[in-house]
Amino acid sequence: MIILKLGGSVITDKNSLTAKLDFDNLNRIAVEISNYLKSYDSKLIIIHGAGSFGHPPAKKYKIGEKFNLSNYQKKRIGFSQTQLAVKTLNSQVLNVLIKNNIPAVSIQTSSILTTNNKRIDSFNIDLVNKYLDEGYVPVLYGDVAIDKSLKMAVVSGDQIITYLGKYLNPDKIILASDVDGVYNKNPKTNSDAKLFKCLSSLKDLEQFDSTTNIDVTGGMIGKIRELLELSKEGVDSFVINANTKNNIFNILNDDEVNGTLITNKCNK
Ligand code: IPE
Repeated sequence: MIILKLGGSVITDKNSLTAKLDFDNLNRIAVEISNYLKSYDSKLIIIHGAGSFGHPPAKKYKIGEKFNLSNYQKKRIGFSQTQLAVKTLNSQVLNVLIKNNIPAVSIQTSSILTTNNKRIDSFNIDLVNKYLDEGYVPVLYGDVAIDKSLKMAVVSGDQIITYLGKYLNPDKIILASDVDGVYNKNPKTNSDAKLFKCLSSLKDLEQFDSTTNIDVTGGMIGKIRELLELSKEGVDSFVINANTKNNIFNILNDDEVNGTLITNKCNK
């Protein structure tokens, strides 16, 4: 079984302050996934990020921050708007996947899990398994959730990976981003940034500043933190660049791809 996360920076224009799909990228990636599934009958879960659909409303309404209950109605509207925004993106993603002959089914994250202090607390994984057993490709996504202590929170697609990675024992986890992997510094702002072939600790990343300022789930550091957490459980993952043509097909197909392996056993 494979878990593939399509970052919001890959399928949307993440620098846009309004929702903007990157249709060409999404469609090319869907073709690559479809070509892989034509040859291999493997189980696949796709998780996608929120990009410019989910981050702006989540930031505007400060979803996940403590608030005064006198503001609850305003916060509920913010929750609803964010949920609608990511659901809209999800419908567009599903539309492209299904057009490319991928039997994708949408699983609304905020309808299947709850959190406690921003961490997943309950999750109906059974349903995900049933869809997998019937040959579907379940698609989950970064979303909002009812939170036991904060009333509401944001759940990143990366946290969903960590959770499913722990409980479903996947053969491969792929995080498709818009850079070649994990660097010691932000490669978008530092030309001397160095790419890690293998990463096992956050210590090497001290100089890293977040990729965008609209990101409410911690940018690249937030993603790596989730994957490092998973590596402690003995589950490895790859960070690759989905903007490079055929990278998604090649990594699914077990071919060599430039990127970063996140594991607790790098050979130093
Ligand atoms: C964020 O999900 C969810 C919301 C903002 C509602 P992700 O953290 O997985 O999204 P990307 O990949 O950074 O865009």
